[in-house]
This record gives sequence, structure tokens and C-alpha cells, in this order.
Amino acid sequence: MALLKSTGYGLAALVGLYAIFISLLTIPSVQNQVIYLNHVTQTWFQDLNTPEQWGFLRNQVTPFILPTPDGECLYAWHLLPPGLYAHHEEELLQEPPGLVRDVRERLSFKLLRDDPSSLLVLYFHGAAGTLGSGWRPPSYRAMSVGAPGRIHTVAIDYRGFGSSSGFPSEQGLLTDATTLAGWAMEDAGIPASRIVIFAQSLGTAVALSLVHHMATRPEPTFFSGLIMVAPFADVESLTATYRIAGTIPILDPVARFPRVLAWLNTFILSKWTSNSKIEAFVRLCESMKGEEARYHISIIHAKDDTTIPWSHSEHLFWHAVNASLPAGIGYAELEEEKGLSRIDRGAGGWVVERRTRKGVLREEIMEFGVHDRIMSYPVVSLAVARAFGSLG
Ligand SMILES: *[C@@H]1O[C@H](CO)[C@@H](O)[C@H](O)[C@H]1NC(C)=O
Repeated sequence: MALLKSTGYGLAALVGLYAIFISLLTIPSVQNQVIYLNHVTQTWFQDLNTPEQWGFLRNQVTPFILPTPDGECLYAWHLLPPGLYAHHEEELLQEPPGLVRDVRERLSFKLLRDDPSSLLVLYFHGAAGTLGSGWRPPSYRAMSVGAPGRIHTVAIDYRGFGSSSGFPSEQGLLTDATTLAGWAMEDAGIPASRIVIFAQSLGTAVALSLVHHMATRPEPTFFSGLIMVAPFADVESLTATYRIAGTIPILDPVARFPRVLAWLNTFILSKWTSNSKIEAFVRLCESMKGEEARYHISIIHAKDDTTIPWSHSEHLFWHAVNASLPAGIGYAELEEEKGLSRIDRGAGGWVVERRTRKGVLREEIMEFGVHDRIMSYPVVSLAVARAFGSLG
């Protein structure tokens, strides 16, 4: 009897604690911690100004600061492709290592700017951590594989991440992204036709916002391609299934009560509505006359991703395809079509590609790769090369 009673108290206490936790989530600053996880840096005792720690060659990576128009300072890495590095190794070794004051004075920057055939990947990482966390450094190396003499990469830590100043927010991260794009096109002088946007997880929402924003400006800009690895449809549909570190489904108990979940979702400040952004972007390109208004979008996801289930990619792809067709297409109808047209690679997953006069939409679903590791895989290297148009 006493045992039953204390078990009852214990259970009540647990439910109470969980209720407190859930109500804490309605506070914006706490919520931001859960969505962006920006204080979980994962590179606590490492100095990002010494990229050799992640296996890069001396001065292959140039750390620099990118100032935003609203007064933040973003920490950035410019990564040279290994083939180009090899050609200029002697000169590169003579430059002082570490954080540079003016990136424009560095050889690496001049190599990017002055070669009319150089290509540039703008890299938007996921939640938590810094430029040096987890599978990100191996992933940077995967970017240049398709053209190791030409594909540069620039990655940033968003505001509030790592040693970048400020606090994350939906508007703030978009400003960070447009700042980087502006730097690439104006300071480095690389036209959008030689720029590919690469993003993973949270970064995919930032990248879609960027691409949509640039296409809807008075002078619209269209990048050579957009690659999204492990994207999500929007924050609302993510909350129900999101697992911290791929293991703890924090909102699972709430998700069993759709009304409570819907109520909780009304408090979420960062909506990141990627579904509607991709739809609006594709629709816009399809409706524009000029040859410039083109899109090349690759969506890549692993089936064993437990952080964001690959069903999110299915939905994102559907929204894009639907927008590319004048009459639209139903989800089930598209699934049926995909079943017939997809290229099956067995244990290597499958791929579906759809083309219109205006663009290309690809969905690649891998059997293996989990949430992060996949970013360093050859499927990503090929997607980058394809987005640059340097594959057949
Ligand atoms: C799909 O496209 C049709 C036709 O353009 C449109 O009416 C519909 O709202 C779209 N559906 C979704 C879910 O985007």
C-alpha cells in the first residue's frame, strides 16, 4: 500500500516536472535554446583559429570576421580546395596563420576573386555547435571533390553561435545569410551563377529563406543551385517528432494530444516555413520569363536519420513539384509516379529527378547516413558538382 502510494507521488511529481518544462518552452529565450542549441558548442576547448586541428593544411582555411548591416560580427572560414592549394602551397605557407583582419589581402581570397572559373559554395550548418563541430569539417572536404581545383567553400557561424556576436532569431539568421551572399557577390565578385548554396538541418530553412529572399528582391538573383541535406518541412511539423541528439523525443508525450501540441505551437516564434518558401520560390521561377530565373534543387535525406525523419523531405519535395506543375499534383499521386520513375540503387537508396523547362528537382533518399555523417558522403560531392553544372 505504502509502495503504491509513493509510486503515485513519484508519478505525479514527474508529470508536474514535465508540465513545468513544457510551460518553460513557451518563454521565447528558452525556446530559442531548444531550437537553435547555439550554446552547445561542442568545440569547447578547441580554438577555431587553428583549423589544423580538424585536419586542414596550414592556411588552407582562412578564418575571418564578416560584419552584418545590423551590427553583428559573424565568424567565418574560407576553405581552399586542395588542388588549388597544391598549386600555391609555397606562397600560402608564407602567410601568417590564424584569424585575419582583412580577408581581402589574403592570397586565398585573391585566388577566389581573380579566377573567372572559380566556383563557390556558401555553407549553412545545422543547429548547435560551431564551424568545427562533428561532421562539418569532413563535410567541407566533400564540397570540392567534384572540381578540386575550383570549388571554394565559405562557412559561417550564425549570430549567437560560437564566437559570432548576438542572439539567434529567424530574421537575424536570414540577415546573416544575405550578408554572406552579398560578400560573395560584391566583395569577392562571384556572380550568383557560380554560387551553390549548401545547407543541412536547420541550415536548410536559412538557405531556403535566402534563396526565396534573393529571388523576390527588386533585382532578382538566382543561384546556380541549392542542396539541402536532412531538411525539415517547418518547425510546427518538426516539434512533434524532433529528438534532441537524435535520441530524446522531448515532445513525444505532448504530441499524443494534437490539441495541446497545436496550442504549444502557437507560442513558437521561429516558424521557418520551408514548405511554403520552396513552393513560392519554384512557382516564382516558373512564372518568370527570363532565362535567368532558374532553379536546381537537390533534397538529400537518410532513412536512418532519427533527428529529423525523412518524411520531411518527402513533403518538401512534393511542395516543390506541386509548384512546378501548372495544375499541381496530389501527394499520393506523386508518390505513385515516383514509385514508377525512381532509380533504385538497392542498399544505396533511390533517386527521383524531375525537370521542367525552368528547373530541376531531385530527391535522393539514402539507406544510410543518419543525420550528420551523410554530409561528408560522395552523394553530397556529386550533388555539388551537379548543381554547378559540371557533371554531364
Ligand atoms: C498545389 O498546386 C495547386 C495548383 O497550383 C494549388 O492550388 C495547391 O494549393 C497546391 N497545394 C499545396 C499543398 O501546395
